Amino acid sequence: MTTFAAGQLKGKVAFVAGGTSGINLGIAKGFAAQGAKVAVLGRNPEKAASAAALIDPAGANAIGIAADVRDFAAVDAAFKQTVERFGPIDIVISGAAGNFVAPALSISSNGFKTVVDIDLVGTFHVFRACYAYLQRPGASLIAITAGQATHPHRGQAHVCAAKAGINMLVKCLAMEWGADGVRVNGISPGPIDGTEGMARLTPTPEKTAALIAKIPLGRYGRIPEIADMALFLSSESAGYITGTILDCDGGGQLLSTSGELG
Ligand code: HXC
Ligand code: NAP
Repeated sequence: MTTFAAGQLKGKVAFVAGGTSGINLGIAKGFAAQGAKVAVLGRNPEKAASAAALIDPAGANAIGIAADVRDFAAVDAAFKQTVERFGPIDIVISGAAGNFVAPALSISSNGFKTVVDIDLVGTFHVFRACYAYLQRPGASLIAITAGQATHPHRGQAHVCAAKAGINMLVKCLAMEWGADGVRVNGISPGPIDGTEGMARLTPTPEKTAALIAKIPLGRYGRIPEIADMALFLSSESAGYITGTILDCDGGGQLLSTSGELG
């Protein structure tokens, strides 16, 4: 449940890449609850349609679009479809990601490339394509990154490399697009309860308990806590914030220079 007053995003249009499940779907729901019209994008068409139906059962204020962020033309077409339906876009989330746990020697060239293509190249595609469709000035762009960007993790060489690239992309775009009134930031969630990401990273109750024991706030994060951070970054209250990566991780980033999970 959000702690923000209602109606913050009335009249706004939001596009959430990777918004058909997990954290990003929670962000999309949070935006819709604040009055925004929302487009969510994922590869699976049925998943996209049911996410849109969850966000707005009446169907007037949410659409689900099936596209792969690795395909620039498909991403561009998704933005075009959104603008034709709802008008210029105020908020863009780039959160599509892929992850598996594997030591570097078990990752093929294609395995490494797959994750970099979805996470990093996909984020470039989303932000590069959205620019033409943005409400400028005033747009807020947010990449969903992770602690892997700044802290090395065993079994995550591909993800660490991809997410580190995303953090730098955020900063470069913030510099180039600030003059047009486009803010670009990142959110770095810690381990979030009930997500596919954590099911892959800490697949057993023992691994989950061991990780929770290390987190300063002593628990996993909750999806609405990330949604609230996205809402804040997209609001006028954050009008002077650009080029930042905000942690929402219960203090996990403080643990060590390794930051290893599990
Ligand atoms: C080694 C693996 C592997 C594994 C896949 N590959 N799984 N290599 N160990 N466990 C290799 C394959 O063998 C193949 O290489 C290459 O990766 C591409 O695999 P495909 O299955 O063809 O790719 P694709 O269908 O595009 O699927 C992408 C995916 C998949 C990333 C592999 O898991 C996916 O769709 N994930 C989306 C959902 C997801 O991961 N959600 C969690 C996001 S959380 P070869 O050489 O055989 O062709 C997240 C966490 C961040 O990002 C931090 C949390 C704290
Ligand atoms: P999730 O439920 O698996 O969500 C991933 C989303 O991305 C889905 O909508 C998925 O839909 C979509 N997607 C994946 N590959 C895609 C592609 N190639 N093109 C288009 N869409 C694609 O994951 P999650 O655990 O909630 O994680 C969401 C985000 O938070 C990710 O960026 C992740 O790195 C980040 N994060 C998560 C955690 C955590 O605790 N879970 C912690 C830190 C950061 P389809 O499968 O239908 O394509």
